[in-house]
Amino acid sequence: MMNNIQKLLVFISAGVVLFFQLMVPASAGELYSMNDGKLERPTGYREWVYVGTPVTPNDMNNGKAAFPEFHNVYIDPQSWDHWKNTGEFRDGTILVKELVGVGTKAAVSGNGYFQGDFVGLEATIKSSEHFPAEPGNWAYFSFSTPDHKSLTDSASAFPKEACNACHLASAADDFVFTQHYPVLRMGKAAGAEATGGVTSKLN
Ligand code: HEC
Repeated sequence: MMNNIQKLLVFISAGVVLFFQLMVPASAGELYSMNDGKLERPTGYREWVYVGTPVTPNDMNNGKAAFPEFHNVYIDPQSWDHWKNTGEFRDGTILVKELVGVGTKAAVSGNGYFQGDFVGLEATIKSSEHFPAEPGNWAYFSFSTPDHKSLTDSASAFPKEACNACHLASAADDFVFTQHYPVLRMGKAAGAEATGGVTSKLN
């Protein structure tokens, strides 16, 4: 016969097992899907974690920047959580770069570059399951149509010479250009401090 303490322990361990069964699938989930070797166009990314906006304006790049012009970059929330806690990009990370044209160069705040219309969408995923042969398991995709007026439903990975090689050579952290994203740079393994406003430090 079990005494009350033993019963309590059984109850607690059942609770712990149930808790992990409920939690693990959620935290291991990937926010992308591959179909027939192609990445389906990601959805919902404007509600992910925003990491930064590099800008390569056409007028500073002989009229045609390789990636026009603003690049709003987002990371999926579960991979952000992992980055914030461990300083690493988990297997299953997706980063999305939404391209936005320069709309105007003058505003009441001064002259500059102000965002106009959306003009494209790119993504990179880290997946040992789908891309075991890619350096770092990172694969790169574009959903922009050639005229930058609409998006494709799915995309095949570019050959590694087209994208991966430059990321391998020049990105600061595991193929990701964290040097250009203050949110990721400052947030690396920073725990709660990664979320903003927790300390008075700016750098
Ligand atoms: C010549 C170097 C170079 C090449 C080639 C290149 N990239 Fe990048 N990529 C960058 C730089 C620099 C950044 C960060 C700054 C920016 O967005 O301009 C970046 C950022 C990204 C990001 C945001 C996440 C991250 O890793 O920082 C994605 C997604 C991306 N590139 C996709 C692509 C795709 C798709 C291709 C191939 C068609 C490609 N890149 C080719 C230099 C390159």
